[in-house]
Amino acid sequence: MKVLVVGSGGREHAVVKKLAENPEIERIYCAPGNGGISVQATPVDIKAIDAEGMVAFAKKEGIDFAVVTPDDPLVLGMADAMEEAGIPAFGPSKKAAQIEGSKVFAKNLMKKYGIPTAKYEVFDDPGKVVEYIERENCFPAVIKADGLALGKGVVIAKNLEEAKEAVHSIMEDKIFGKSGNQVVVEEFLTGKEVSVLAFTDSHTVSPMVSSMDHKRAYDNDEGPNTGGMGTIAPSPYYTADVAKRCMEEIFLPTVEAMKKEGCPFKGCLYFGLILTEQGPKVIEYNCRFGDPETQVVLPLLKTDLFTIMRAVRDEHLSELDIQWSTGAAACVVLASGGYPKKYETGFPIEGLDEDGGHPGVIVYHAGTKKQDGKFLTAGGRVLGVTGLGDNLPQALEKAYDAVKEITFEKVHYRTDIGKK
Ligand code: AMP
Ligand code: GLY
Repeated sequence: MKVLVVGSGGREHAVVKKLAENPEIERIYCAPGNGGISVQATPVDIKAIDAEGMVAFAKKEGIDFAVVTPDDPLVLGMADAMEEAGIPAFGPSKKAAQIEGSKVFAKNLMKKYGIPTAKYEVFDDPGKVVEYIERENCFPAVIKADGLALGKGVVIAKNLEEAKEAVHSIMEDKIFGKSGNQVVVEEFLTGKEVSVLAFTDSHTVSPMVSSMDHKRAYDNDEGPNTGGMGTIAPSPYYTADVAKRCMEEIFLPTVEAMKKEGCPFKGCLYFGLILTEQGPKVIEYNCRFGDPETQVVLPLLKTDLFTIMRAVRDEHLSELDIQWSTGAAACVVLASGGYPKKYETGFPIEGLDEDGGHPGVIVYHAGTKKQDGKFLTAGGRVLGVTGLGDNLPQALEKAYDAVKEITFEKVHYRTDIGKK
């Protein structure tokens, strides 16, 4: 079997490494991939959003199965394009990917089907948003651009001034383009945040181990929002009771709702949750694996990933009994100094072996390139170093021990992953 993985980050490296464990797969391609991924997969120089180019390549190479991992190609319909060309694909259809591609769609879905989430209003007129926020006078106010915005479309405004600025830049300056044609203003929720990724074939929902992201750039949750600076799995707050409620009140109703709306969801559905005093509530859906959640979740998966992906695509997930390790995982992201704002690249990375790994941990490459046998930094988030252990403290110790030995100029990482 020849498998094509679309994407280029740490998440894609985690998927590629897990797929590589399946002996039926003779070759993995990754488009565009990165320096570290190229150790396990053949890099293909096609942009992740280029559906036409990707399908043409898959046909020419005789790809047997495609895994579409990032949000943009899914929202643009790459999984459909693969299927239309006769190539089985893991990933939701364009219609189903709306659950992430449009916050208005997601919020209306939750309201219609009684799925717990923050109260909200939708606006397409900037004046009306400001009027509403002024009238409600309830801060912080949460303002969300409707469409995809590179993970930066959510503003938590502490006062009216900040709210006005956000509305202006999203709806008038259009910093996220069309994604800012509409905004959602919603109630601010408090509680522990938990991410749960779930495999679903639109009939069966199989949640993975829970995880917890650390989105701010600096320790103590300070600094700007990033794509994610580290993760742990499982989340200690996600107890069996909470898991049961989530399954009954959120996961199954969501998958059922998508079917009823005529857009059955097949793939990995990501539930971003806040555990409030009234119970778990949804703050966001993603139509894909999370990054860097995948870097702690997949290492704990004991069942073969390719078998699961095919069962999802062929809609017989109920036949599988997916097994998870009872241990824990922790991932610390090594970023380029300055990320998520301006940063430099091209620095050599010290402390990696010739395959881009390091003893005792799994090193996932997010932004690296390989030149003359050396790995160089090539992005904002550079590496994700994952430690595994019987429990969270052990996993964290392993990850941080390795992080001390892997370095590059101007490296930045958080020292408090998993402390909360
Ligand atoms: P998102 O891009 O939707 O993941 O949102 C980014 C972050 O904003 C989330 O991880 C939360 O920390 C925060 N957030 C989003 N919505 C809410 C809300 N309604 N109440 C409190 N925090 C929120
Ligand atoms: N870590 C959050 C995400 O992948 O969107």
